[in-house]
Amino acid sequence: MKIVVIGGTGLIGSQLVSRLDSLGHEVIAASPTSGVNAVTGEGLAAALADADVVVDVANSPSFEDAAVLAFFEAGSRNLLAAEAVAGVRHHVALSVVGTERLQGSGYFRAKLAQERLIEVSPIPYTIVRATQFFEFMGGIANTSTREDVVWLSPAAMQPMASADVAEALADAVLAAPVNGMIEIAGPERAPLAEFVGTWLGQTDDPRAVAVDPAAPYFGVEIDDASLTPGPAARIMPTRFDEWLARHLPTQVAA
Ligand SMILES: NC(=O)c1ccc[n+]([C@@H]2O[C@H](COP(=O)([O-])OP(=O)(O)OC[C@H]3O[C@@H](n4cnc5c(N)ncnc54)[C@H](OP(=O)(O)O)[C@@H]3O)[C@@H](O)[C@H]2O)c1
Repeated sequence: MKIVVIGGTGLIGSQLVSRLDSLGHEVIAASPTSGVNAVTGEGLAAALADADVVVDVANSPSFEDAAVLAFFEAGSRNLLAAEAVAGVRHHVALSVVGTERLQGSGYFRAKLAQERLIEVSPIPYTIVRATQFFEFMGGIANTSTREDVVWLSPAAMQPMASADVAEALADAVLAAPVNGMIEIAGPERAPLAEFVGTWLGQTDDPRAVAVDPAAPYFGVEIDDASLTPGPAARIMPTRFDEWLARHLPTQVAA
């Protein structure tokens, strides 16, 4: 099967490409680095020729409201149009659990716009919504910092390892389109402040942590339902402490 991974050089894309490649598929890692730009359309027709499946795991270089909306709208429109011409049989896209509950954020308005374009296009599709990646804990801390204090919500989250995201995505790529949404999540549900606080502690980060129910997540006040998946979610196995032990071996052993 020929599979084109848009954003194939990224955190998720590179692991997905390796996994599909090791299963014997013809996999193209497509991104601006290799001359394929979903936003401008450059290189898309050539990359998609004879493709069976296209996976969109690209991410916007800017999270500014207008820029991120333009990225996901233009990228999705161009991709879906090029897929129709190439006769692609399945479009798989990675989105985020709770997207419709986070619409106070420009990033999540852009992800919802991406999902809507996929849903109304004639290309059979699967949208895989993942929870926050363990690799993203530092990013959450940075966007939550004011004057060296990290302000964190005690609302629940259920984050997951990016390797588990890639595994679940690969399964979706190799299955028939569901023409709907699949949710995937990690095995543990705990306060956001606990996950991010643990990450800060394990990386010897000097910033103080303050827990505040009003602390926004990317500009949005959240509760226990905001970031957590529904009961039908596929639960992937890697726990946060296992992941930390593998990724931060010296700190965890100390
Ligand atoms: N962070 C989270 O916790 C989380 C949770 C759930 C879902 N997600 C979703 O996961 C997806 C992937 O995230 P990631 O962290 O793996 O991204 P990433 O590591 O930032 O990688 C971004 C990828 O997008 C490519 N790209 C940038 N501009 C492009 C363009 N104009 N056309 C085509 N490709 C372009 C980059 O290519 P170059 O290397 O060539 O620049 C790179 O391969 C995103 O859609 C995000 O919404 C994230």
